Amino acid sequence: MTSKKRIAVVPGDGIGQEVIREALEVLRASGVPLEFTTLDWGADRYLIDGTTVPADGFAMLARDFDAIFVGALGDPRVPSNIHAKEILLGMRFQMDLYANVRPVRLLDASLCPLKNATPADINFTVIRENTEGVYAGMGGSFKFGTPDEVATQEDINTRKGVERIIRYAFDYARANGRKKVLMADKSNVMTYAGGLWQRVFKEVAQEFPGIATQHMYVDALCLQMVREPQSLDVIVTNNMFGDIVTDLAAALQGGLGMAASGNIHPGRASMFEPVHGSAPPIAGKDLANPVGAILTGAMMLAHLGLLAESQKIEAAVLEAVREKKMTPDVGGTLGTRECARWIAERVGQ
Ligand SMILES: NC(=O)c1ccc[n+]([C@@H]2O[C@H](COP(=O)([O-])OP(=O)(O)OC[C@H]3O[C@@H](n4cnc5c(N)ncnc54)[C@H](O)[C@@H]3O)[C@@H](O)[C@H]2O)c1
Repeated sequence: MTSKKRIAVVPGDGIGQEVIREALEVLRASGVPLEFTTLDWGADRYLIDGTTVPADGFAMLARDFDAIFVGALGDPRVPSNIHAKEILLGMRFQMDLYANVRPVRLLDASLCPLKNATPADINFTVIRENTEGVYAGMGGSFKFGTPDEVATQEDINTRKGVERIIRYAFDYARANGRKKVLMADKSNVMTYAGGLWQRVFKEVAQEFPGIATQHMYVDALCLQMVREPQSLDVIVTNNMFGDIVTDLAAALQGGLGMAASGNIHPGRASMFEPVHGSAPPIAGKDLANPVGAILTGAMMLAHLGLLAESQKIEAAVLEAVREKKMTPDVGGTLGTRECARWIAERVGQ
């Protein structure tokens, strides 16, 4: 008997609450030995008492849980978005979840905006550095608000940070039977940071002789993702470029409602979240696609070693897509609940 895994659940705001509620039903239907603890971190709590993350919150997550399952954060009642930044970026930075892992898989040709693309053409993974780059928040303003204003935003690249994300990408390729790692940068212009990425990529690649390597400038990669997505396997890139190419990747797989992600530090409690935001205009209308959250749940199970249950959930999602038991954003007619219940029923059989 597998020991019970403890999962902290942060549904968050807007459709985050709806898709997480449904994804938990699917996870329960799979019979996995999970114990869920729901945390009220989000806009409602912030508006009541100003709390974004309770004192000791991140230490508690790392200490008391095997994984963290997050919906989405962002609420028009909090225009500064301070709670979302402190919760999400706080988890990534303070818990040092340095690898953002984004599997990009087309489940059915009907979901892809590219002409004639099939599921065999779109099946790759983006590994995005998650703790450095321009997201480190270093920089400043000079002569703020005047016509002479100067703004700087530093792009932080440490040898340690670059090396560990590149090694993660190669380890991921080896563990998942992938054949090639492509590193994308903009080293023709960002010569110092790009130079570091280039050198480290070549060095680390030598430890993985069975895996082919490729380099592309990130703008060329965007072109390649649309024109020849079948040539892609594992992509590793920095925080900013990863942020951008993963949205393009989401479009290839049917949109934000279909995309799953993990924020991982091997050996530590890691965080799993659907890629989409809280989508305030459709919140509370039973319109949100729950599949991104459901696939995120499956990804979390695989990470926790519960492979059979993870595959069972993925198979049920695939069936739902093929049978068009989906929400309107991907051409279906079902509501959030109905779509998720259909999947949960298949998982429970
Ligand atoms: N990781 C996160 O929690 C996260 C990510 C992105 C945005 N946000 C926040 O979410 C709020 C809204 O941001 P946004 O509008 O830029 O991004 P969004 O992802 O919420 O929405 C973008 C578009 O995609 C649609 N969409 C998103 N998820 C969907 C789903 N599951 N089913 C059907 N349609 C879906 C929305 O209706 C909207 O048209 C903001 O406060 C933003 O800061 C949070």
